[in-house]
Amino acid sequence: MENFNQSKVSEFILLGLTSSQHIQFLLFPLFSIIYVVTVLGNLLIVVTVFSTPNLKTPMYFLLGNLSFVDMTLASFATPKMIANLIRKHKTISFAGCFTQIFLLHLLGGVEMVLLVSMAYDRYVAICKPLHYMTIMNKKVCVLLVLTSWFSGLLHSGIQIPFVVNLPFCGPNVVDSIFCDLPLVTKLACIDTYIVEIVIVANSGMISLSCFTILLISYSLILITIKNHSSTGQSKARSTLTAHITVVILFFGPCIFIYIWPFSNHSVDKFLAVFYTIVTPILNPIIYTLRNREMKTAMKKLWSVFVGSKQVT
Ligand SMILES: *[C@@H]1O[C@H](CO)[C@@H](O)[C@H](O)[C@H]1NC(C)=O
Repeated sequence: MENFNQSKVSEFILLGLTSSQHIQFLLFPLFSIIYVVTVLGNLLIVVTVFSTPNLKTPMYFLLGNLSFVDMTLASFATPKMIANLIRKHKTISFAGCFTQIFLLHLLGGVEMVLLVSMAYDRYVAICKPLHYMTIMNKKVCVLLVLTSWFSGLLHSGIQIPFVVNLPFCGPNVVDSIFCDLPLVTKLACIDTYIVEIVIVANSGMISLSCFTILLISYSLILITIKNHSSTGQSKARSTLTAHITVVILFFGPCIFIYIWPFSNHSVDKFLAVFYTIVTPILNPIIYTLRNREMKTAMKKLWSVFVGSKQVT
């Protein structure tokens, strides 16, 4: 009998987006700038929501929390990926690899449920405006945030034990920018059919069902807007467009990766860029550049911060 422990893999190699050194040197400054902008932008949203009294509405409460999650989603793997661009030995420890998997699914799960919560918030605001304040009270908002973290924890916690206990004895090359379930599972040296089923059932279903709920609620909202033409219509529509853009860019890649997780991996790493790099930077862009309330609040905050006398 072979002893698996003797040849147990102690670290993995992350290949990254490309093997071309030239492109890697070009990507290094690009991703570094995107990362810094993502963290600062989301931090600015969190601080603005916290310190502006008239942004104490359910929508901004959830947005503040979404920004916090985006900040962490952008940080759990990207700094290492950026460092690896200029490193010769692109290794990650066994524990580091599984920490990335755990965080990806925890934060991804939280983000999905938060996006559903934000859609629900918009649904109530637009389809049941008279009951908005009673339905979306403070308690419900806190409950929605807690539910999202609990779902993320459950979603991530359930699948990790299936994979971390697999025997890894052979190849240790992960062809992506961070460790994720399909690619790492493929490296195990036993048949992983059952584990693959678990991953599709869990990650695939949570992505698909959240996406379906989102589609239904946004459809209901759009129908309502169409039938009741009012003055707030264009504002509502631009908020919705922002939400729907984020939703499609986040869920599209997730569904693609986890519904067909073991067929073709060559595009997975490019899709991974969408939900760890593109989506987290979208929030600050969409909500600050397109939102007058947010812009005004940030300007006020800025003048208080620099202590200027322009505040009137
Ligand atoms: C996010 O949610 C927590 C807990 O519900 C809340 O205390 C916090 O104020 C929220 N954050 C923002 C920025 O709104």
